[in-house]
Amino acid sequence: MIETGGEALPGGRELSVRVPGDKSITQRALILGALAEGESRIGGVLRGEDPLATGRALAGLGVEIRGLEGSPESDLRIRGRGLRGWRQPDGVLDLENSGTGARLLAGALAAQPLTAVLTGDESLTSRPMERIVGPLRRMGAAIDCLGVPGRLPMRVTGGPLVPLCHRGTVASAQVKSAVLLAGVGAGVAVEVCEPRRSRDHSELMLEAMGVSVVAGAVEGGWSVGVPAPPTRLAPLDMEVPGDFSSAAFLLAWAVLSGCRGALTVRGVGLNGTRTGLLPVLARMGIGVDVAQRGTAGGEPVGDLRVAAPMGPPRAVEVGGAEIPAMIDEVPVLAILAARAEGVTRITGARELRVKESDRLTALALNLRRIGVAVEELPDGLEIEGTRGRLAGAAECFGDHRIAMCFGVLGATPGCDIRVDDPGVADVSFPGFWKLLARLPHRSASDRRGRTAYTRRDAARGDAAANPEAGCLVVAIDGSAGSGKSTTAAAVAFRLGFRHLDSGAVYRAVTLGLIERGTADAVLEEVTPEELAALEIDVKWGEGRMEVWLDGNRIPERDLRSERVTARVSQVSAIPAVRSGLLDLQRSARAGAGLVAEGRDMGSVVFPDAKVKVHLDADPRERARRRILQRGERSPGPAEIEAEADRLRRRDERDSSRRVAPLRRAPDAVVIDTTGLEPDEQIDRIVRLVEKARRVSR
Ligand code: DC
Repeated sequence: MIETGGEALPGGRELSVRVPGDKSITQRALILGALAEGESRIGGVLRGEDPLATGRALAGLGVEIRGLEGSPESDLRIRGRGLRGWRQPDGVLDLENSGTGARLLAGALAAQPLTAVLTGDESLTSRPMERIVGPLRRMGAAIDCLGVPGRLPMRVTGGPLVPLCHRGTVASAQVKSAVLLAGVGAGVAVEVCEPRRSRDHSELMLEAMGVSVVAGAVEGGWSVGVPAPPTRLAPLDMEVPGDFSSAAFLLAWAVLSGCRGALTVRGVGLNGTRTGLLPVLARMGIGVDVAQRGTAGGEPVGDLRVAAPMGPPRAVEVGGAEIPAMIDEVPVLAILAARAEGVTRITGARELRVKESDRLTALALNLRRIGVAVEELPDGLEIEGTRGRLAGAAECFGDHRIAMCFGVLGATPGCDIRVDDPGVADVSFPGFWKLLARLPHRSASDRRGRTAYTRRDAARGDAAANPEAGCLVVAIDGSAGSGKSTTAAAVAFRLGFRHLDSGAVYRAVTLGLIERGTADAVLEEVTPEELAALEIDVKWGEGRMEVWLDGNRIPERDLRSERVTARVSQVSAIPAVRSGLLDLQRSARAGAGLVAEGRDMGSVVFPDAKVKVHLDADPRERARRRILQRGERSPGPAEIEAEADRLRRRDERDSSRRVAPLRRAPDAVVIDTTGLEPDEQIDRIVRLVEKARRVSR
């Protein structure tokens, strides 16, 4: 995505980049295209995890979408089924992490003559849905929350609706869009009044599809309505502009990296309900030139150019009416504030507590961890800027914007920041880490000043930066539900080591065999040639193990899918599979160290590992953890007993199987995790590693 550039930006050099398509607009294009009559063409879409989840849900409703998983350049084609033409879905519609997808779909479903169940991942199922459930029920939709009231999963039974004038207490584009979609779908008048104006992508796109939208200031806020919905929506034909929120991370990088040239982000959406950060940056002394180049789907599009400032940014006060138009950029503002002169005060941003994470707490916690003085307010933050060294580990809480803002800060001088879950950036900015790595980086003196061996070094296998000679192997084995994977990942993160999840490698082979059509009955007879023909590879992305099959990275959800889980234990018992994977697993050794997690790490794969740990726990405790891990809440004694029985049977099968029975290495340290908090398990293993290091010195 870098168009020009070089090693550094010596005086006057220009660097030009592009960012992926706007997430909000991509999501709306998908849903609106699905309601149109005829085929919509959408170019420049964001192929991030949120739109993919929305696309899959729409496919479940009978909407044909082509090109969503295609190359970044290809167009998306959506064959709309008309305003009330969606099909009764066969299963639950899982929106994963996408709040926009879930809320807007709920609105559109309210008018469809069908019943659908919407759900999401752990984070989405804890976010508030009451704010859309209320107005949609008042319009006549039947909505049942199947778990916790006001949360997903929920069942929506749609049908004819009545007109509604809704007064919202928070400015929320998702609530507004849900009501507008319900009204347009059912052909009834709707109006939404908000205390402040929220982003208006839905209105602009509806207008582009032939809907007459009335909007304007009213007493106590802003009103948007569709008084006379049309009987059909014309298909869309548009290019999605680059995401301003993604561009904001790069602007912040340019400011904080102190590079001497200028950075231009091209083709960015400049909708005024989204660009509220720009006047705030101006108050901080950061000038951004805006050049509008045209429009797309009713949205202004142009280039943003920031020249690196002469000095550090100035602290600002931000709050009230300014917040809705920059709500997603508060994390970016927070990292700028961390380097600004003075104390920045952000208020009126309570809404950030119910985003992909509680962003106020996530920002405060992480900033504090790396050495910034922060005060967390009920609706904001007070951040005292510092020029001191910032170092430590940032926790992402599954939130893409938290991951990216600390990634950006970490890529600037005077910082050494590790991000625990970089992969979450894929939600809105696929390719973010690659782009960041290609930007001109910190100076050599800054690298020399580092105190710690970082996770990024570990991921790269950067032996030169490794203060240890050789790669220290930590083998963590144990039975199912003993807490292995969480512990291993955390230990690797704490130590800056690679984490080998050997179970994932067995899962990849299983997926490969299933995809090659190897029937269950003949799995055991699979030949070494058939196995060799599977191109399984393990790569090290930004601190994370990635498993590749036939040249493509396997998405997590495929690795952990039902069909793979059901067969992996059978596949992992095939002798040819076990021996065939030895070299691949051993090749994971690089950099400072490796935490290898599985069933035979200490006994077979790395018999000379410096640290060997065998985790165990009481079957009932393991059962309880597994049930909770599946997202079910507080299991009762009978449920725990049934799961414990299954685990006991599996333990017995695993330890009595002919090939690679689960047996602990004689020199492994056994840790019974039954009464231990996760932190205690991690601490114990880290202490073992530190001891091993001392001995080997
Ligand atoms: O840890 P997991 O559930 O992802 O492991 C998947 C399967 O692979 C499980 O059935 C155990 C098996 N496995 C194995 O036999 N040896 C390993 N080193 C890792 C996993």
